[in-house]
Amino acid sequence: MADTRVPTVIADDVHVVYKVHGAGKGRGSATAALSRIFSRGKAEKGVREVHAVRGVSFTAHKGEAIGLIGSNGSGKSTLLKAVAGLQPVAAGKVYSHGQPSLLGVNAALMNDLTGERNVILGGLAMGMTKQQIRERYQEIVDFSGINEKGDFISLPMRTYSSGMGARLRFSIAAAKDHDVLMIDEALATGDAAFQRRSQKRIEELRATAGTVFLVSHSLSTVRETCDRAIWLERGELRMDGPVGEVCDAYEAFTNA
Ligand SMILES: Nc1ncnc2c1ncn2[C@@H]1O[C@H](COP(=O)(O)OP(=O)(O)OP(=O)(O)O)[C@@H](O)[C@H]1O
Ligand SMILES: [Mg+2]
Repeated sequence: MADTRVPTVIADDVHVVYKVHGAGKGRGSATAALSRIFSRGKAEKGVREVHAVRGVSFTAHKGEAIGLIGSNGSGKSTLLKAVAGLQPVAAGKVYSHGQPSLLGVNAALMNDLTGERNVILGGLAMGMTKQQIRERYQEIVDFSGINEKGDFISLPMRTYSSGMGARLRFSIAAAKDHDVLMIDEALATGDAAFQRRSQKRIEELRATAGTVFLVSHSLSTVRETCDRAIWLERGELRMDGPVGEVCDAYEAFTNA
């Protein structure tokens, strides 16, 4: 039978290599570290490479919600950045339908600007018109729940708790229908009520036929929200399949 699903993202043997400038060449021993500190200034400055994603391939389709799991440093955030075009690939190719939007814990909001200004800037950055932003503004603020405990939206972002900041980021990104929406642990910091709201919104986004990628260390969230999971380990794709099977295998791996 022919595959009639519509592909939205194709990653073909993607490699990402970070170049770290000014990295020490020592082997991490205490004496090497000490001598580096004392010779600071005239210390050798090397360029070290971190091969963060190693030959990952997958095809994502319209209507899919894909959980990205794996231990710390396994390359999940890096892979999403590469798909979003925010991180160049060293080898391989990423093809995507539309502009994938990455909604991460470090999404580019400005700490010194008020929540209000950030809603407008974030909307513009996603390609919304001023008119569209005006229409959705109240909805975004209400969804974020930032103003539930007082008028916080008119205060600078730096006065927000990390959970409040994450909620605002999610709310801005969720205001638009995306072809490909990628969420990097943004949900983990919200409280229970906010998690329920965002889960509902992810369902809606899926229904409007986009593709959702969710990076999370909460396997229960991944199981509830996604139908497929990709497991990365040391930059390599370990497993790709139905969410239940992949999460079971990952759990067995981490408990071993
Ligand atoms: N800006 C950077 N410069 C150099 N190396 C980096 C950079 N960002 C990440 N790395 C390295 O790339 C590898 C993958 O990191 P990445 O952030 O993609 O992992 P992750 O799976 O998202 O981890 P976590 O679960 O902790 O968020 C790690 O070895 C990390 O040290
Ligand atoms: Mg990460």
